[in-house]
Amino acid sequence: MWSSELVELIIMLSLLMLLLAMMTSVTATSGNKQSAQTTQSPSFCYGGCGIPGMPGKLGTPGAPGRDGRDGRDGRDGAKGDQGLQGKTGPQGPPGDKGPAGVKGEEGAKGETGAQGPPGQKWELSPMPFKNWKECAWNNLDDQKDTGLIKVNFLSNSLCFLRDCVFTKNFSNTALHVYWTGALRIYGCNDCCKRWYFTFNGAECSAPLPIDGVVYMQTGGNKNLHRVRHIEGHCNNIHKGKVRVGFWIGNCASYGNADGQTGWNSVSRIFVEEQSPSFCYGGCGIPGMPGKHGTPGAPGRDGRDGRDGAKGDQGLQGKTGPQGPPGDKGPAGVKGEEGAKGETGAQGPPGQKLELSPMPFKNWKECVWKNLNDGKDNGLIKDCVFTKNFSDTALHVYWTGALRIASCNSCCKRWYFTFNGSECSAPLPIDGVVYMATGGNKNLLRVRHIEGHCNNIHKGKVRVGFWIGNCASYGNADGHTGWNSVSRIFVEEVPKAQA
Ligand SMILES: *[C@@H]1O[C@H](CO)[C@@H](O)[C@H](O)[C@H]1NC(C)=O
Ligand SMILES: *[C@@H]1O[C@H](CO)[C@@H](O)[C@H](O)[C@H]1NC(C)=O
Ligand SMILES: *[C@@H]1O[C@H](CO)[C@@H](O)[C@H](O)[C@H]1NC(C)=O
Repeated sequence: MWSSELVELIIMLSLLMLLLAMMTSVTATSGNKQSAQTTQSPSFCYGGCGIPGMPGKLGTPGAPGRDGRDGRDGRDGAKGDQGLQGKTGPQGPPGDKGPAGVKGEEGAKGETGAQGPPGQKWELSPMPFKNWKECAWNNLDDQKDTGLIKVNFLSNSLCFLRDCVFTKNFSNTALHVYWTGALRIYGCNDCCKRWYFTFNGAECSAPLPIDGVVYMQTGGNKNLHRVRHIEGHCNNIHKGKVRVGFWIGNCASYGNADGQTGWNSVSRIFVEEQSPSFCYGGCGIPGMPGKHGTPGAPGRDGRDGRDGAKGDQGLQGKTGPQGPPGDKGPAGVKGEEGAKGETGAQGPPGQKLELSPMPFKNWKECVWKNLNDGKDNGLIKDCVFTKNFSDTALHVYWTGALRIASCNSCCKRWYFTFNGSECSAPLPIDGVVYMATGGNKNLLRVRHIEGHCNNIHKGKVRVGFWIGNCASYGNADGHTGWNSVSRIFVEEVPKAQA
């Protein structure tokens, strides 16, 4: 503001004026003090020092000097007082929208859907299903010595075969068959006949044929019409219609003899499909419960936060520039929890139980061809069976040739054991063969011994078939399993009614 030059100029002017003033003052005083001065001081004297003359009169003042140069600029003044605050500017625009509020919590899970409808029940009788059939004939009296047992039953000139036609529902099942009826050989010595089952004309191959033999050593005048039982199980038989035939033929290594079948009584062929699956008791199985409903949809996102609060009032500006925008508003409030999901759809219907459709039978059949066991006392064969439960019964049978030979008033007994002990609940399972006069006889004949035994431990059970003496009889010549197939069948069955 004040330049230093101007300042300098001002200072010089001031000094000059001061000098002039001093000079004027000296001139004015010198007249009054002159004498003193002369005596006191001779010192002011250049050159020769004559007596100074009288001072001249004052000259006329000179013309004024030219103007001095401008002084330097002065220094800046102190900062002025702050101006009055301007008026508040117009309100700023609204702040930016705040960020979205936090997502609301997921809605509650929907309710479990209603239970599905029950699965289909097997529309069966309340007892385990058995696919079985029994064909029966009264007084069959079939005289043939070889071939399918049948009679030429004339009715409107039709000849009916005596097959028992059975419909097998499944492939993986076994067929269980038995024959009960009178079989005989007649009027021959050292002669034998064999009876056997066929399935669509072929003998069983899995595991072995189902047969029985009747032998006679001396019988020129004998006619052995006796009821006999031949039973067994056969695997690998196709499903669908199966012709189960019962035949008569020759024994291996023996020629023909006079046979007859079904004399003067009822003969039966029983056929049953034997299932491998499991189901004790009634087999209608309730449907599985319906599946849980699907969870409800997640709650919707929370709503956006509200606009932020108005910005603060701007400062008043001179010209009132618009205030800055307000601060960004705070985040919106957390969204509300989503609505509860809808109830899940009803579960699907229960599944029809995927069991084999036939009732389970825990069974086993051990078979031997031409056992030809000559022992008179002791174990013939074991069949080891696994019993699943404690409170069930075991059903067992033997089918095979048993004989006594060459003795009078003699007897042998065959019986089952379970881990070496005979059945005690209710009683042993046994059978005897007796002969009054038989010095030259040999009763090799198919025989069947069957029964049920309770109170047998669960787990492995050794089912044994033994030969021994009859009570009150001594030993005799016994023989077991001659020239045919022998079987021990074992089956676990629910306990009997009380
Ligand atoms: C098995 O076959 C018989 C006809 O022989 C039929 O009546 C029955 O319904 C069938 N059972 C099953 C479980 O398929
Ligand atoms: C019963 O035992 C047999 C073996 O003999 C086994 O295969 C089957 O799974 C068992 N069943 C049950 C229900 O324990
Ligand atoms: C029965 O015999 C079988 C086979 O020998 C054996 O594993 C089992 O432990 C026996 N059970 C009892 C109760 O003796």
